[in-house]
Amino acid sequence: MDGNRCDPELGKIAEEIMRCKRCPLYKTRKNPVPGEGRCDAEIMFVGEAPGAREDETGRPFVGAAGKLLTELLEGIGVKREDVYITNVVKCRPPGNRDPTEEEIAACSPYLLRQIKAIKPKIIVALGRHAAKFLYGQAGLKWVNMTRMHGKIYDAVISGVEIKLMATYHPAAALYYPKLKPLLVEDFQKLKKLLEEIRNSAGPRGRTILDYF
Ligand code: URA
Ligand code: SF4
Repeated sequence: MDGNRCDPELGKIAEEIMRCKRCPLYKTRKNPVPGEGRCDAEIMFVGEAPGAREDETGRPFVGAAGKLLTELLEGIGVKREDVYITNVVKCRPPGNRDPTEEEIAACSPYLLRQIKAIKPKIIVALGRHAAKFLYGQAGLKWVNMTRMHGKIYDAVISGVEIKLMATYHPAAALYYPKLKPLLVEDFQKLKKLLEEIRNSAGPRGRTILDYF
């Protein structure tokens, strides 16, 4: 992308997460999982919370669901290292239970700051928890995944203008194989959206009108 637009805030956020005790999850985590990827990524993926493998390694989406996410990205010609991947909640809930409202409230300011620092063009919510949170931030009404998956909305989150898309969590598609084609379809929509965005703005964000 623009090369030198890495915001140093991104590293500071990760440092704060590494020593965070803002909710009880710090007591049971092995490693917090701040997120990883390009600081100037065009696309940001937001999951729910780290699982066992993520807790062990400190990296997001490195288990079975992560392998599927990487494959889905490859399927649309995007490299995993070119996007940014994180979660709403940065520490693993014990036994992979759902994060509580309190944990989401305590942790989500980190995600909002990451969005502000990265300024992605597209945010993809992976699964219901991330989708509900991000739809809420965007002032959009969340119904359910069956209704909302693959829909692309113009939204402003953390003061950043983005396109927001929710899709099924890759772990859900591993559990219910019938969901996988829907996930593949939604990634095709993502591919098209990415092409549209790339075609409409040149390297300095110009449109064709700037040349007349
Ligand atoms: N599931 C998530 O929601 N996030 C991860 O990082 C891994 C699995
Ligand atoms: Fe802090 Fe978030 Fe971890 Fe809770 S889950 S301790 S708020 S980083």
